[in-house]
Parts: sequence; structure tokens; C-alpha cells
Amino acid sequence: MARHFLTGAELTRDELLALLDRAIELKRDRLASDALAGKSIGLIFQKPSTRTRLSFEAGVFELGGHPIILRPDEMQMERGESIRDTALVLSRHVQAFGIRTHADVIVEELARYATVPVFNMLTAGHHPCQALADLMTLRETFGALDGLVLTYVGDGNNVARSLAIVGAIAGVEVRVASPEGYALEPVAGARLFEDPVEAVDGAHAVYTDVWVSMGDEATADDRRRALASYRVDDALLDLAAPEVVALHDLPAHAGEEITAEVLYGDRQRIWEQAENRRHAQKALLELLLR
Ligand code: CP
Repeated sequence: MARHFLTGAELTRDELLALLDRAIELKRDRLASDALAGKSIGLIFQKPSTRTRLSFEAGVFELGGHPIILRPDEMQMERGESIRDTALVLSRHVQAFGIRTHADVIVEELARYATVPVFNMLTAGHHPCQALADLMTLRETFGALDGLVLTYVGDGNNVARSLAIVGAIAGVEVRVASPEGYALEPVAGARLFEDPVEAVDGAHAVYTDVWVSMGDEATADDRRRALASYRVDDALLDLAAPEVVALHDLPAHAGEEITAEVLYGDRQRIWEQAENRRHAQKALLELLLR
């Protein structure tokens, strides 16, 4: 049976902590592993990406493998080839593949029929590779993860959901503060708030994401209105733990969900977090292909 990574819930606590440690090792020596020597990895991008594409393509190369980028306009899926047939054929040519797509059922169906590992590079519901990089950044910053408090402020979206799922496995208390109508559904382990001030009390990390995610453009004005008081700024960080760091999965809209002062300031770990995508995903690929 191939090992898949669709939501992050597939990992045990021991596996997750070992993966994060391995990611930190690979960051120290980016060419330390040739785990993908002689292997090709398919990377299907049905939505735009900067970080995910860069980090996976460079990461596969650093592990000695060959990344094959597949754009929708170059694939027969666009012309109606079934997800099942696509999974069967990919499994005959590559040793694992990831997809960035719309509905979660697409990645779930690919995984059902693939005979090689399938990983989620972002769906409407989940962004688990991002959550791995986020936890790696916290582990680098604070050491042990157990007992840390991470408060996500803003739209209760795929990034918030993955943080809640993967954070709970690692022993991080994840709080999600959102306005009415944009709240995350109850996720085991996550504490939901409406008031961001209450939610950041004692937080070691304050995390935010764009107010208008890919696919939400039609409701952009409503979202900006509803989320206007959920901006991460220095005043909000001052209410958290003294050692607080600001996180953002990027791309950012400075002046909307985060101020420029925080985005480029002394308390952020955002650019480290963006780099850590590559290291965390390399450790993930090692695990999936072990
Ligand atoms: N955080 C993230 O997934 O970035 P990209 O959309 O640029 O891949």
C-alpha cells in the first residue's frame, strides 16, 4: 500500500516530530540526502503557486530526483481523461506525485487509485505541507512544541484547518479567531474564538493569511469588510506572549491582513517559514518513499 499525505492526519506524533527534526537537519546541509536518486516526482499544478512550486521543484532536485511539473493545459485531464486513469498512468511513470487543485475529492480519488504516494500541495480544504513548514519554524524558534500556543487570526480556511489538525498531533494549542460567517468548523484540538484580542492572550505565535483566497474573488468586498478588525499589527502582537513571533503562509497583502511593520519587522519569522517549505517537504518525501 502506498503511503499518502492528504490532510496531515496520516502522521503519528512520533513520525511528525521525527520529520520536523529531519527537516532541520536537511536545512543545515541541503545536499545531505540522495533519497530520490533515480526517481521522478510528478507535481500537478491546477492553481497558481510561487512557494509550493519553487520548494518542491528545488527540493526534489536537491534529493537527487527529477521533478516533472504538470500544468492542466498540458494534461489530458483537461480534455476529460478521468482522475482514475490519470492516477493509474502517473503511477507507472513516477515514484510519487503531488497535486494543487480545487476540491478535496480530486486528491482523494487520485490517492484511491494511485499505487505510489500522493501528496496534497493545497486543496480547498487543506494545506498540510504548509503546516509542516509552520511547525518546523516553531520548533526552530522555540525548541519543544508541546504546550506552545499558536493563534490564527482571520478567515477559517484551509490553512487554519491544516494548522489545527497538524498542530494537535504535535501538542500545539491552536486557536482560531474569525468573524461570524468565516469561522472554521469545530476541528478536534482547535479552540475557536470570535475576539482576536482574547485569542492572542499568551500566544507564542500569531498567524494570519490573506482575506481573499484563490477562488474567493467574487466575495472579496464582503470579506474585506468582515475581516477588517482581524489585521495582525504590532498592537495585537503586544497582547500576546513577550516572545511572540508573527507567521504568514504568503503571499501577503500588506495593509490588509498584516501590516508592513509586522511583515518586515523584528518579530516575524515569515521569510524563514517560506524557506522551510522546502526543507519540511524534503523530509516528507523521504518519509513517503521510505
Ligand atoms: N503558501 C503557499 O502555498 O504559497 P504559494 O501559493 O505561492 O505556493
